[in-house]
Amino acid sequence: MSVGIAVRKVTQLGHPYLRRPVRRLKPEEVRSADVQRLVREMAVTMDEYDGVGLAGNQAGEDLAVFVMGLPKGTKRHPDGIQLTVVFNPEIRPIGDEWEEDWEGCLSVPDLRGMVRRRKKVELTGLGPDGKAFKRVYEGFPARVVQHETDHLNGLVYLDRMDGLKTLCYLGEMGRGG
Ligand code: NI
Repeated sequence: MSVGIAVRKVTQLGHPYLRRPVRRLKPEEVRSADVQRLVREMAVTMDEYDGVGLAGNQAGEDLAVFVMGLPKGTKRHPDGIQLTVVFNPEIRPIGDEWEEDWEGCLSVPDLRGMVRRRKKVELTGLGPDGKAFKRVYEGFPARVVQHETDHLNGLVYLDRMDGLKTLCYLGEMGRGG
């Protein structure tokens, strides 16, 4: 790791940044040294906390950017997710299929809840080089993309749950009746 790249403190639910839409960046701003440093710190922070994604406002910056990534071979998603940085993300649903699955969030520690998400989405925005980014995601990666883009619009996964009855502490999951 480069000298001086810091792990960031992840903002927790209640921090005002998590409930406000964030500021979009121009391509030249994306390429600035400060913003390039920020995304490196976000990637390091995501790893440190074993997250799959991290949004700018979770890293204490009021900026429209998220990182996502997951090593191959995990139980959750064996294919892994390539480390990806997207600025000014926008989502377009593809098809009309939905999937329900457990979600958690580094800003809402220790909890999990069932959330219905679009199965397939197209993600557009700017890449870390400031150029146009466009990619289609399906299944678990599509879920991550929707979760992180929600963050940048001031939403957390709790807002997407159909009620709070499935909300549970991670340590109590799988206990059965
Ligand atoms: Ni989150």
